[in-house]
Amino acid sequence: MSLDVEAIRKEFPILERRLPNGKLLVYFDNAATSQKPQCVIDAMSDYYSEYNSNAHRANHTLADEATSALEGARSSISSYFGTSPEQMIYTSGATEAINLVAYGWARENLGDNDVVVLTEMEHHADIVPWQQLSKDKGVEIRYVPIDTASFTLDMEAFEIASKGASLVCVVHTSNVLGIRNPIEEIVEISHSNGARVLLDCAQGAPHERIHFDKSRVDFVAVSAHKMGGPTGIGCLLVRKDAMEQMGPFMTGGSMIKTVSTDGSTFQEGHAMFETGTPRIAEAIGWGAAVEWLDQFDMSELHSHVNGIASWTADRISQIDGITVYGDPSRSDSSGAVSFLHDSIQSQDLALLLDEGGFAVRTGHHCAQPLMDALGVPSTNRASFWIYNTMEEAESFVKHLEYVVDRFSHNL
Ligand SMILES: Cc1ncc(COP(=O)(O)O)c(C=O)c1O
Repeated sequence: MSLDVEAIRKEFPILERRLPNGKLLVYFDNAATSQKPQCVIDAMSDYYSEYNSNAHRANHTLADEATSALEGARSSISSYFGTSPEQMIYTSGATEAINLVAYGWARENLGDNDVVVLTEMEHHADIVPWQQLSKDKGVEIRYVPIDTASFTLDMEAFEIASKGASLVCVVHTSNVLGIRNPIEEIVEISHSNGARVLLDCAQGAPHERIHFDKSRVDFVAVSAHKMGGPTGIGCLLVRKDAMEQMGPFMTGGSMIKTVSTDGSTFQEGHAMFETGTPRIAEAIGWGAAVEWLDQFDMSELHSHVNGIASWTADRISQIDGITVYGDPSRSDSSGAVSFLHDSIQSQDLALLLDEGGFAVRTGHHCAQPLMDALGVPSTNRASFWIYNTMEEAESFVKHLEYVVDRFSHNL
C-alpha cells in the first residue's frame, strides 16, 4: 500500500493536539517514542473493558481470552519479524532485552578470557550491562570508534576488534546520527571470527523490516513504543542454539515448572525468561501495532522519512551557527537530524522550539560516549516518522530561522 500520509495522520488522534499556548503540535521526537494509531489504543482499551484477566493462570472464559490474545500477539509480532513464536521472549523493551542477553546468556557462557565488542555509537542500554558484566566476570570490552568526518563506524577498526571476540553488540541504527550500520558485513565478519552478534534494533525496527531468521543475527532487541506500539513492552529474538545456552535471568512465578522448599525447576524455551504476570495489555497493543504497520511498504516509509530528514538537515545546516551531526542525505540514514547551535544552549533552543509547537529531543540521548567522540555535551534532535510531512518540516525550518535570528539580535 502506498503512503497516504494525510489518511495516516487521521489515525493518530494526538496529532490534532493544540499545546497550552494554542500552537498545533508538530511531533518531531519519534526516536524517543512514536505516537500510537487509534487501533492500538482501541485494542488495549478493549482488553481492559472487555476481558481483563491474568493470562496462563485460571480456567475461566476471561482468562482464556486474555491468554489467547497474549499468545496471538506473540504470533503476530514474531511473524512480523520473520521468525517463530518460540524464538521470541517478551521483555519490557530493548533495555531489558539487552540485559537479558548479558545476564541470561553472557553470564552463563563468558569469563575472563572473553571479549565483547561494542561501538562508540551504542545507546547506554548497550554499554552499561556489558560494563557490569566486565566487573563481575572479567570480560574485556573493546570499543569500535566512529569516523567523525563521515559519522560511520570505522570498519577497519571493527575487523581488528572483532578478532577473538565472543560477542559483538551493535546498534542497527544510531539514535543520534540516524545512520544504519552495515549489519550484513558486521554479521559476516563476526561469525567468521566465531562471535555471536547482538543487534540493538530499537531504532531500526520502526524504519526497516527486520527478518530475524534471514539475518543470521543471534540476538535482536526491540522496543514496541518506537514503532507505534505501547510503552513497557519489547522483545528479545534469540536463535535456537543460543537460547539453549541461556540460564534464567529474573526468577519467580510463571517461569518455573516446580518449586519445593528444596529448590525449583524451570520451564524451557522462552517461558523460562518470562517471569511474573505478563504485560498483557501492552502485548495486545503491540500486536495491533505490527498488524497496522504490516499494511505499509517499509521501503516507502523509509523514503518518505529520509526525504524529510535530508531536506531538513540541508536547510538547517545553512542557518548561521548550526552544525548538523550525521549525514541525513545518505540513503541508509533514517530520520534523525541531530544539530547544535554554537551559542544557543540546546536546552534553551528546545524551549524556544516548543514555543512554536515543535517537540524535539535534547540532551546526550543516552549516548555519552558518542557525544564525547563528537566533542559536544548534547544535541537537539528532530526525528521523523510515517505521519510527518514536508509542510511540518518547512514550518520547523522557518521557526528555527526566526529563533536564531531573534537570538542573534538580542546578543
Ligand atoms: C538505540 C537505542 N537502544 C536502546 C534504547 C532503549 O530502549 P527502551 O528505553 O525502550 O528500552 C533506545 C531508546 O531510546 C535506543 O534509541
